[in-house]
Amino acid sequence: MTSEVMPNFLRWHPDYGIGVEEVDREHQRLFSFVEALASATQAGSRQSELEEVIGQLLSYTLYHFDREEELMRNIGYPFLADHQREHMALRQRVQEIRSRSEAGDVAVATDLANLIAAWLKCHTTTTDRRIGSYMRKFGLVA
Ligand SMILES: [Fe+2]
Ligand SMILES: [Fe+2]
Repeated sequence: MTSEVMPNFLRWHPDYGIGVEEVDREHQRLFSFVEALASATQAGSRQSELEEVIGQLLSYTLYHFDREEELMRNIGYPFLADHQREHMALRQRVQEIRSRSEAGDVAVATDLANLIAAWLKCHTTTTDRRIGSYMRKFGLVA
């Protein structure tokens, strides 16, 4: 998919930034996996290729959640439990999607790109943003 036809909602936007460099970098990387998946779908890639990109996106999503939760634990973040619940809900959906993908359901690719992009847009601008606010308040980040 060329950048001209890539829908904006599948892309990173500076509004999603929370002001914590490593977290923002990971969110950008997540969006780049979403874009790669949308491109592969648009290009009519073979199922094996789609499965590979799907696997990368799902794995990186889980990796990012682990890292973000570790950061929250390290800074003594008081809203960790609520935040984790939101991650848990998406983790479960990710597992369902992984099962569909492994069962050969190719339509899962488009659903997944849309789901993760919409979820990230909402989560980064609310729940994740509060981590940035907290860290700035306590001088843990510039
Ligand atoms: Fe989060
Ligand atoms: Fe995040």
